[in-house]
Amino acid sequence: MKNTAVRARCITGIEGLDSILGGGIPTGSLVLVTGVPGVGKTSLALEFAVRGAAMGERSLVLTTVERPEKLIASVPEFDFFDNKLMEKGILTFLELSDFLDGSSISGRPETSEEFSRLGENISKYILEHNIKRLVIDTYHTIFYGIKDDSIPRDLLLTLSETMYVKNCTGILVADANPSTSIESIISDGVIILGNLERRSDLLRTMQVLKMKATCHSRAKYVIDLTTCGVLITPLLRGGL
Ligand SMILES: Nc1ncnc2c1ncn2[C@@H]1O[C@H](COP(=O)(O)OP(=O)(O)OP(=O)(O)O)[C@@H](O)[C@H]1O
Ligand SMILES: [Mg+2]
Repeated sequence: MKNTAVRARCITGIEGLDSILGGGIPTGSLVLVTGVPGVGKTSLALEFAVRGAAMGERSLVLTTVERPEKLIASVPEFDFFDNKLMEKGILTFLELSDFLDGSSISGRPETSEEFSRLGENISKYILEHNIKRLVIDTYHTIFYGIKDDSIPRDLLLTLSETMYVKNCTGILVADANPSTSIESIISDGVIILGNLERRSDLLRTMQVLKMKATCHSRAKYVIDLTTCGVLITPLLRGGL
């Protein structure tokens, strides 16, 4: 029998991306955004959060490397950003230590118990604050110095389950090699940002490697990071 259930879409608000994905990311999905340094991962993820908040969806940005203030400072550069989003609590920036109950001396999780508590506390926050968009920038830095591979996988599974159940859609900024990492296999979607050299210039590119429940283009696109957000153009029109 034909499955007629249609997954609702989370409209990212990033115009070109929404059309590549046939209307947006399936609601409740966890998507990895991977790529080399400086390629635009944070810009794309922040636009996703700010656009969502502007549409009235409560958005949480969890920073794991830099202080939230530092990331917040780059947000007003977006033409579509309104300070009221943060004042009203629709757009919130928090850091890792905010989810550790003060239990970790270093301010970072170290034991498997602290990692489980981190997963539980993020899940609780999503539930209690009705979070509809989650950005973690960046996912892998949470696990610096951790040798046990099951820890990142278990946290991803915990988040993935909560988000699916609560219809919260997430972008995890990651530096994983998308072709081999277990995170890429577990996650619902993978978007790769890259660089392409053209006549001594370095173009930024974007490619959707996978997006479950979605028939999408796998073509490479050229992206421009602008104050209007990420602009996406087919590679051929980018002059190649
Ligand atoms: N609105 C913008 N207009 C033009 N350039 C921008 C804009 N936003 C960011 N950039 C440029 O993009 C570069 C990096 O963007 P971004 O921080 O999103 O990349 P990233 O992949 O997250 O990098 P990292 O791996 O270091 O975290 C910066 O060097 C900055 O100059
Ligand atoms: Mg970044």
